[in-house]
Amino acid sequence: SPSGDQNGKRVLLAKPRGYCAGVDRAVITVEKALDMYGPPVYVRKEIVHNRHVVDSLRERGVIFVDETTEVPEGALIVFSAHGVSPAVHAEAERRNLQTIDATCPLVTKVHKEVNRFARDDYDIMLIGHHGHEEVEGTSGEAPEHVQLVDTPDDVAQVQVRDPEKVVWLSQTTLSVDETMDRVDQLRDRFPGIADPPSDDICYATSNRQVAVKAMAAECDLVLVVGSRNSSNSQRLVEVALQAGASDAHLIDYANEVDPAWFDGVTTIGVTSGASVPDVLVMELLDDLAERGWDDVQEVTTANEKISFALPRELRSDKETRS
Ligand code: F3S
Repeated sequence: SPSGDQNGKRVLLAKPRGYCAGVDRAVITVEKALDMYGPPVYVRKEIVHNRHVVDSLRERGVIFVDETTEVPEGALIVFSAHGVSPAVHAEAERRNLQTIDATCPLVTKVHKEVNRFARDDYDIMLIGHHGHEEVEGTSGEAPEHVQLVDTPDDVAQVQVRDPEKVVWLSQTTLSVDETMDRVDQLRDRFPGIADPPSDDICYATSNRQVAVKAMAAECDLVLVVGSRNSSNSQRLVEVALQAGASDAHLIDYANEVDPAWFDGVTTIGVTSGASVPDVLVMELLDDLAERGWDDVQEVTTANEKISFALPRELRSDKETRS
């Protein structure tokens, strides 16, 4: 075979990988806002957790802020894909800001579940990572009903009023397996705990984990393209290692690859987080090809067809306006 003289060096490329429908929508939302209103467009927090995306948009006139209080009265602000609490909406209204909400519809779905269970006076165990923007927004829907459960320690700490009126919900970008461990631990404490009406971990997160799992055991090294603060990207590294990859690393760019990682490596797995443009994966593949890994085989575990309509404010059918 043509690659026979290369000691079997090969790349397994996960599919699906990269952009999910929620990220695609959020990035297009900011681009359209730039086109329609011109710079500066303010965005609260990183629109999606990817360095390349954020840096590119900043170059085009986007100003990223941490809080709405940093935005001049009356200006336009876009809320990021991770969602915001009602308090943030209220603050924006007080400051007369024009808002465009790029919250992923699958995050909004979890917000609605929080509201529904809070209305029914449940204690809500929100499984998620401390300090992540998504859980800040989600728990902000009903702070007095929600307790964040991250570690096994948190499971031991939570207090509920009525063990028969407890439900668990979750962040959308967690490890599927780790979340089920946390649910089992919660169920040990509260056998009557209710399950979410539907999966909170989103299709994109779980599909990317299934894809990396399918190839991990064959890989001496898995490279995950994604940013440090991207929850779903970090999970892909963990899932790859748990599923049998000998080594795995998270990188923003091809030039972050450490040549020492290639020692003794034949098969390299490549995937990327849900906020990563595929151009960054292609750059990594070019780089790997130069090092002799030019035999790339795609490993497909699902074909994603999902897409979301843009926020109302940006749709071209504006008949709803007057
Ligand atoms: Fe939405 Fe899941 Fe992407 S919640 S933003 S589709 S990772």
